[in-house]
This record gives sequence, structure tokens and C-alpha cells, in this order.
Amino acid sequence: MEKYVRPEIIAMKGYVPGEQPESEQIIKLNTNENPYRASEKVYEAIRQTAISGLSRYPDPIGKTVRFVVSKKFNIDPDSVLCGNGSDDLLTILTRTFVGSGELLRLPYPTYILYRSLAEIQGANSELVPFNTDWTLPDTFFTATSKLRLVFLPNPNSPSGTVIPKSRILEIAENLPCPLVVDEAYADFAEEHCIDLVEKCDKIIVCRTLSKSYALAGLRFGYLVAAPKWVEQMMKVKDSYNCDSLAIAAAAAAIGDNNWQKENRTKILATRTRLTEQMRRLGFDVPASHANFTWNTRKDIALKPVYESLKNSGILVRYMDYPCWGEGLRISVGTEEQINQCLNFIEKIL
Ligand SMILES: Cc1ncc(COP(=O)(O)O)c(C=O)c1O
Repeated sequence: MEKYVRPEIIAMKGYVPGEQPESEQIIKLNTNENPYRASEKVYEAIRQTAISGLSRYPDPIGKTVRFVVSKKFNIDPDSVLCGNGSDDLLTILTRTFVGSGELLRLPYPTYILYRSLAEIQGANSELVPFNTDWTLPDTFFTATSKLRLVFLPNPNSPSGTVIPKSRILEIAENLPCPLVVDEAYADFAEEHCIDLVEKCDKIIVCRTLSKSYALAGLRFGYLVAAPKWVEQMMKVKDSYNCDSLAIAAAAAAIGDNNWQKENRTKILATRTRLTEQMRRLGFDVPASHANFTWNTRKDIALKPVYESLKNSGILVRYMDYPCWGEGLRISVGTEEQINQCLNFIEKIL
């Protein structure tokens, strides 16, 4: 095997996505999906597209989505790049900017995939630990000669915390390379950075439809960047990285502002209740700006809590970050799902 497979690939562990159980009975609160059904306009768009036939290749650049996104944020359509989920965009970004032996920076703890992307490139990743209050130290924007790209999820996972926009602009202006603000959860927060792209061309913002549009199964994301970067990334992406059904569905979803507003209101109300109740049960829970909460405590081990929940059909995410500690990340489900989860935790404590 060693003779054929690149040594970087043999050496890496590979990203392990969150568990996707087959049973419909499981209360699934482990991968930050949206518990509600997507806008009916999405299903209608998929139906219409399917009826008109799928024998042709899709639009390689997803013009309809570029148009809807450009209208929504009042930006140039040429600054939008569509992806097969935001993981696809993160891959395109890493392949475009980071070569073998070069450096990719990320905060710690955060979304684990970024490191795997650096490993696939044969690049190194530099992990800059968050301060204990989830702010970022100044070392996050120090320039080093091999630094080629910086990832910053905002809100961050697993903490759900945010770095203020003003600080993001300061970080980007100080960096010698592009800063990718991964806004997978920004629709659940109070502010976002899309308008910063025009102020500072080092800022690239990545979005997904998996969370706030309830379309994780569809696989669609987009990024907003200076057109000069998009032009380069177009060369790196697969020719037809988004299929016709996904393009039609994404355009319908992004265009349905009412659905999103209503959905956000429900998720935020349940998030507040989840946060308050977990604190009442003795957990430390930083204020979340995403559709999940990060729950830690020092007095008991949390793996057994995770396992008991799982054995009773409630799946949350247990994470244990070396040099940082363990916690339970709980996605905001429906009111009923969160009631069941909270009742069970109260019972086993
Ligand atoms: C911070 C962050 N970025 C990106 C993604 C991937 O999203 P997508 O489903 O669009 O690939 C996730 C998924 O959980 C995430 O937590």
C-alpha cells in the first residue's frame, strides 16, 4: 500500500463525521441539523426541476443561486461561488490557497474538518487556542512566512460563541493571507460578515444551507469573496459540483425569507430554554449564537451521561478535546425533543 498511496494520506486519521443512525426513533441532537421541515417552496422547486428532466448537465456556476444571493446581500454575483455543501467550499479554499509544506491556521477547539483538509494537502496546521472566555488572542493574527490561509468559524463549534465583527476586520487587516469566516451558523447569530468582503478583500465568507435552511440532506453551500478569488477557485472546483435539483432548491430556499424568519424565531426560543435549563442542572453553558449549546462541568464525567442518553435513544455529541476538556454539544431540536433530553439528563443526574 505504502508504494501507491501518498504518505500524507496514510499518516492521517481521516475526518469522522457525526453519527447518522438509521432509526427514525432516535432523537437526533448530535450534528446540528434543523429539526423542522424546509420551506415548501424548496420541495416544489425540486419537483418542477425533476419533471422537466435531468438528462442535461447542471449550470456549472449555479447562476440562479448567485443571483438570489447577490440580491439578498446587495453584492456582485461574481463574488458568489456555489458548493456541494460548505465542506466542498472549504476543500476548494484549501486546495486553492494552501500548498504542500505551507501553513493553515485555525482556532482551537473548533470544527475538526479543517485539520484534515490541511493534511490532505500535505500542509501543516497551526492551532491557536481560544482564551478561556472564547475570545481570540493576538497570536491569531501574527504573520508567519508560510501562512497561507486562516479559518475562523463564527459562531464557533462546539462553543456557539462569536467573535465580534469589528475584531474580525482587525484580524483580517493584520493577516498576510485570506481569512475564511465560516458562517455555517451565522443565521442564528445577531451579525454576519458578508458586507466586510467589500471592505477587506482578504475576508471570505462561507455559508451552508444545512443548518438554518433545514437542508443538510441536499448538500449546498456558497461563499462570498472578492471576484478575483472566485475566478481562481472556479479552476479548482469540480466542473459540475452542484446538481440541478440542489441549485433549484437552494435558490428557492434562499428566496423564502419568511420561512427563515419563522424558523429562526422557533430555534432561538428553544435555545434560550435549553441554555437556562442546562445551567439550572449545573452545567456551564456559554451563551450560544448558533443552533446548539456547549455544556461542560467539572464535577462529573460526561461520557457516561452521553452513553446513558444514547442508550435511551437520545443522541447528543460528546467531545473530548486534548488539553481543553470534554463537553456535550446539544443541537437545538424541537421543543418536545429538548424536553425529553432535559428530563432524561435531570433524571440521571
Ligand atoms: C463550522 C462548520 N462548518 C461547516 C460545516 C459543514 O456544513 P455542510 O453541511 O454545508 O458541509 C459544519 C457542519 O457541521 C460546521 O460545523
